[in-house]
Amino acid sequence: MKYGHFDDLNKEYVITNYETPLPWINYLGSDDFFTLLSNTAGGYSFYKDARLRRITRYRYNNLPLDQDGFHIYIKDNKTIWNPGWQPTRTKLDKYECHHGLGYTNIIGSKNRIEVKQELYVPKNDNILLDRVTLRNNDKKKRSIDLFSFVEFCLWDAQDDTTNFQRNFSTGEMEVVGSKIYHKTEYRERRNHYAVFFANKKIDSFDTEREKFMGLYGSPAAPQAVLNGKCSNTIAHGWQPVGAHHIHLDLEAGETYDVIFGLAYVEVPERKKFIKPGVINKEPAEKLIGKYDTDKKFDEGLKTLNAFWDKLLSRFEVSTANEKVNRMVNIWNAYQCMVTFNMSRSASYYESGIGRGMGFRDSCQDLLGFVHMIPERARQRILDIAATQKEDGGAYHQYQPLTKKGNSDIGGGFNDDPLWLIACVDAYIKETGDWGILDEKVDFDNKPEVADTLLEHLRRSFNYTLNNLGPHSLPLIGRADWNDCLNLNCFSKHPGESFQISGPSEGPVAESVFIAGMFVKYGKAYANILRHLGKDDEAAAAEKAVAAMEKAVLKDGWDGKWFLRAYDAFGNKVGSSTNDEGQIYIEPQGMCVMAGIGVESGEAQKALDSVKKRLETKYGIVILNPAYTTYRLNLGEISSYPPGYKENAGIFCHNNPWVIFAETIMGHGNRAFALYKKTCPAFLEDISEIHRTEPYVYCQMVAGKDAPTFGEGKNSWLTGTAAWTFTVLTQGILGIQPDYDGLKIDPCIPSNVSEYKVNRRFRGTMYHITVFNPDRKQKGVRKILVDGKEIKLGVIPASTKKEVDVQIVM
Ligand code: BGC
Repeated sequence: MKYGHFDDLNKEYVITNYETPLPWINYLGSDDFFTLLSNTAGGYSFYKDARLRRITRYRYNNLPLDQDGFHIYIKDNKTIWNPGWQPTRTKLDKYECHHGLGYTNIIGSKNRIEVKQELYVPKNDNILLDRVTLRNNDKKKRSIDLFSFVEFCLWDAQDDTTNFQRNFSTGEMEVVGSKIYHKTEYRERRNHYAVFFANKKIDSFDTEREKFMGLYGSPAAPQAVLNGKCSNTIAHGWQPVGAHHIHLDLEAGETYDVIFGLAYVEVPERKKFIKPGVINKEPAEKLIGKYDTDKKFDEGLKTLNAFWDKLLSRFEVSTANEKVNRMVNIWNAYQCMVTFNMSRSASYYESGIGRGMGFRDSCQDLLGFVHMIPERARQRILDIAATQKEDGGAYHQYQPLTKKGNSDIGGGFNDDPLWLIACVDAYIKETGDWGILDEKVDFDNKPEVADTLLEHLRRSFNYTLNNLGPHSLPLIGRADWNDCLNLNCFSKHPGESFQISGPSEGPVAESVFIAGMFVKYGKAYANILRHLGKDDEAAAAEKAVAAMEKAVLKDGWDGKWFLRAYDAFGNKVGSSTNDEGQIYIEPQGMCVMAGIGVESGEAQKALDSVKKRLETKYGIVILNPAYTTYRLNLGEISSYPPGYKENAGIFCHNNPWVIFAETIMGHGNRAFALYKKTCPAFLEDISEIHRTEPYVYCQMVAGKDAPTFGEGKNSWLTGTAAWTFTVLTQGILGIQPDYDGLKIDPCIPSNVSEYKVNRRFRGTMYHITVFNPDRKQKGVRKILVDGKEIKLGVIPASTKKEVDVQIVM
C-alpha cells in the first residue's frame, strides 16, 4: 500500500495520507541550522549540535506519537484543527505533504478553509522559516483564529530532559511586538538566544506553556486555542514557549499570509546587553530583516532550490528504470548529504543526545558525498583525523560542536582507523588534491603532536599491523564494523555497556572482517605511496597486505565461506561448526571487495553461500542462523531477539558490500537484483510492511526469523546511503573516479541496452553514454572521447569544460 507518490519533476515525495505507518520526516538545513520535520509538522530544531544547542524540545518515544514540532492551530468556530492533522487529529477534507530538498510544504483544508505551511531553512542563515497562507474558499466571510506554537528546549538536550529541579527555575523570555525571545541562561554563560517571530501584527501571545496549553491541557486541545486568544504571558522558569495569535476575518476567496521564523542568534560577549536585563536584539533584527517579506522569502527559497539543482546536477543518470533515476538523481544523493551532516546524531531514532559523529560512520558517509562538495569533505577529513590517537587508534565518536574525541566511549574499535584510509583515498580520487596529504593535522586534538595527514594514514595502517592475533589476523578490540560483536567484553549485568565494560583488548579475539578491510584499504594505501614515489614503503605495505591475504585464506576460510572471527578463547565465530551464527555477511562482502579468493575460487563460493544461506526477499540478513540465546562470549549481537538488528536482521549497510562483490565477479544481473531488494523506491508499494519512508534507506529491516519480517527501522542515518550510492554509481553504472582520471567499467543487467550519465569530475562535465549492443553484464571494448577512440582504461582527467564519452561494452 502507498501513502503518497514520487513527483520526480519537482524532486518531491508527496504524502496524501497523513496516517503514515511512522512519522515520515525531512531534514531542513544544510549548513549549521537544522530542523527535522515530519509529515504532520512534528520535529525540532538545533544549531550545529543536537545535544548541546537544541532550540526546541522534542519528546522521543512519546505518546501520542510525534506531538512536538511546528504546528499551526486553526480555530474556526467550534472546530480546532491543524493543517498537518496533528496534534488535534481533526479529520481533514484535504491533505498533502510535499517533502522536497531542504523544504517541506504541508497543505490542509477543513470546511473550505485551506492552510498551507511552507517551511525551509535558507542557505547560510540560522533560521527556520514557516510561511502560513490561509485561503477562504467559502462563498461567505469567515472568522478564523490562527496560532503558532513552539516549545523551547533549554539548550542542552540531555540536561533538559533530566535536571528539572534546576531547569524549572531558569527560563527567561522577552517579547517585543511580534518577536518572542528565548533567553534562558543568556544572563550567565551563554552568548546565544533564540527568537520566534511573525512578520505581521499579532493579537496576542504566550510564552508560558501552562497558560497556552492549560495546566492539565494537551497539545490536542490547547486552552488558548479553545479560548480563541492567548494571555500575553511572560514565562519565569517552568517551560518557556512561543505562541502567536492572529485573528482574521477573511472575505470569500480572500487569502492572507504570515511568515513565522525561528532563529538562533549569537552575540559577541561584550555586546550582550543594551541595558541591565535587556538583551541586544540588533543581530536578531538584522537576520529577521532578511526574510520578513514574501519577496525575500521567495528569493531565499529560490536560492535553496538552485543550490540543490546545482549540487545534484553533478551526477545525473538517465536509464530506462525511473526508480533508479530517482534514487541516484534525487533521494539517495539527498540522503548522502543528510548523513554527511548528521552522522548518527539526530534523527527520529537517534535522539541527538546519545551519539555524536562516529569516526567510522563519518568516514563512510563521505564516500557518497565527496563528489557533491569536495571542499566540505576535505574539512571533514581533517576534523576526523584530528581526533585520531597517537598510536593510530581512534576515538569512536566526537561531538560536532567541539570536534573533540568523546572519551566516555573512547577507542579500541579496531576497524575505525582503516576507514580513514578509505575516505582519504576516495577524496583524492575525486579531486586529485594530493596536497591534502601534506596538511598538518593534530593527533588527539593536540597541536603539539600534529603531523601530516599522510602520517595519519601510516599510523592507521600500522595500527592493524601492531594489533595482530595468533592467526596473524587483526585483533578486534571492543568491536569492528559490527558494534555488537563484542568478543572481549563478557557483559553480565543489565545496564552495562556491551562495548566498554570489560577489557577492550583480549589477546586473541580476531576479526576476519578487519583483515578484509586491511587488504582492501591497504592496497589503496600502497597505491597512494606509489603515487608519491615512496616505492620502498609501498612495497612493504604490499607485502603486509599479501601476508594478510594469505592469513585470511589459511585461517579465515571455513570451507564454503569466510569466517567471521575468533573469539577470546580462540574459538571460531561464523563457522559451519557453530550451532548458531554459522555464516555472517560482512566478511563475505568485504573480502571479495578486497579481491581475496577471486582468482582461487573462494570468492565465488562465498557469494554462493550468501545466496543460499543469507538472502531473503527483502535483502540479505547479517547472519544465520539467528542466535536464540545470549552468548557471553559474543556480546550485544546475541542480545537482540532473533531477526532484529545485528542478530540476523537485514542490516542494510552491508548489502551493498555484497552487491559490490558481485560486480567484481562480473555479475550484473545479480548485482541489480540485490540492489532492488533494499532500495526504498522499489518498496513503496509495501509501505504498510516496510513502514519507514519510501524515499530513504533505513538502517535495518527485520530478518526472516523475526515475527515482523520486512519491517524497516531507524530510517535516514545509516551508512547504507553512502554505500548504495557508491555501489550503484561506481559498481553497477561503473563511473569510478581514479587517481588520474575517470574509469568507466559498468557491471549491469544484461537487458540494459544503453544509458547516459552526466558526471562533473574535477571541473569538467562528462557526458557519458554507455552502449551495450551485445547485452553483456561486464566488459568494455571501446572508449571514444569526443569522438576519438582511446586505449582501454582510465580516461585521463580533462581540462576542458565538457567532454563527450562513449563506451561500448
Ligand atoms: C553504527 C555503525 C555500525 C553499525 C553496525 C550502526 O548503528 O552507527 O557504526 O557499523 O551500527 O553495528
